[in-house]
Amino acid sequence: MEISQNKPNRNAWLKGGKAQCQILPQGRVHPQRLVLLGAPGIGKGTQAELLSARLGACHLSTGDIFRGAKTLSECDRTPAMSSALDYMRRGDLVPDETVLGLLIERSKCLRCGGGFLLDGFPRTVAQAEALKKCLTQNDVRLGAVLSYELPLEKVVSRLSGRRTCPTCKAVYHVDRRPPKMSGICDACGTALIQREDDRPESVRVRMEVYEKSTAPLAEFYRRNHLLVSISAEGTPEEIFDRTMIALKRRLYNGTWCAV
Ligand code: AP5
Repeated sequence: MEISQNKPNRNAWLKGGKAQCQILPQGRVHPQRLVLLGAPGIGKGTQAELLSARLGACHLSTGDIFRGAKTLSECDRTPAMSSALDYMRRGDLVPDETVLGLLIERSKCLRCGGGFLLDGFPRTVAQAEALKKCLTQNDVRLGAVLSYELPLEKVVSRLSGRRTCPTCKAVYHVDRRPPKMSGICDACGTALIQREDDRPESVRVRMEVYEKSTAPLAEFYRRNHLLVSISAEGTPEEIFDRTMIALKRRLYNGTWCAV
C-alpha cells in the first residue's frame, strides 16, 4: 500500500510552542478523531501511517515527541524533558504531569480540521481523564478508540525486528516490512536505526508497565462506549482493512460519521 509523500509534516505536534506545520492536512467535513491503543510494538504506529494516508488525519505520537527531543542539545532541553528521556530509555512511563504539559501546549493539534490519530496517548487512566477534559474544552469529540489485540510473544518478535527512520519516522521490520534497500528509508533515503528502548531489558519493563497502567484503559473506553477491538494478527494491510471495516460498521450503527 502506498503511503502519501505529501503527508502533513507534524511540526506543530513534534516541536510544540509556536511551531507551525508546513503542510497542513486538508480540512474535512467530518474529520476523524481516533485514539490507537495496544501493547508496545503491536503496530499502532504502522496502522496510524496507513490510516493517516487514507483518512487525512494527522498521526500524533507522544513517543515521537520524546524521540525528537533527543536530537536537541542538552542546553536546549528543559529539565523535565531530560528526565523524561531517562524514563523512556528504561522503558518506564514518563510522569503524567510532563506528558499532560506537552499535550496542553499542543492542544491546537486536537482542533486541526484534518482530524487526528493519537498514538501512545493516553497511557494511564489519569491521562484519559485529562484528554476527555481537554477535548471538551476545545469543543471536539472523540470518534472511537481502536484497541489492537495480539498475544504478547508475537508482539515481542515485532519489536526486535523494528527499524525506524530518524528523519521522517517511517517504520519498517527487517523481515516482514523491509525497506526496498536494506537499512535505508524508502521515503527519504536516511539510514535506518534501531530504537534504544527496543533492547530486551527495556522491552521487558515496557510490557510490565503496559499490563499494569495501560491495559485498564480498554475498560475505561468500553464504559465510555468508544472502544472498538481489532485483532492485530496478520499483515499490516490485513489489519488496516479490518480497521476500516470496524469503523464503517460503527458508521452503520449510527455512532460514527463518514469514513
Ligand atoms: P511509544 O513511541 O508510544 O512506543 P510504544 O507504545 O511502546 O509503541 P511502539 O512505538 O514501540 O510500537 P507500535 O505499536 O507503534 O508498533 P510499530 O508500528 O512501530 O513510546 C515510547 C516511550 O515513550 C514509552 O515507553 C514511554 O517511556 C514514553 N511515552 C510515550 N507516550 C507516553 C505517555 N503518554 N505517557 C507516558 N510515557 C509515554 O510496529 C512495531 C514493529 O512491528 C515494526 O517493525 C513494524 O514494521 C512491525 N509490524 C507492524 N505491524 C506488523 C504486522 N502486522 N506484522 C508483522 N510486523 C508488523
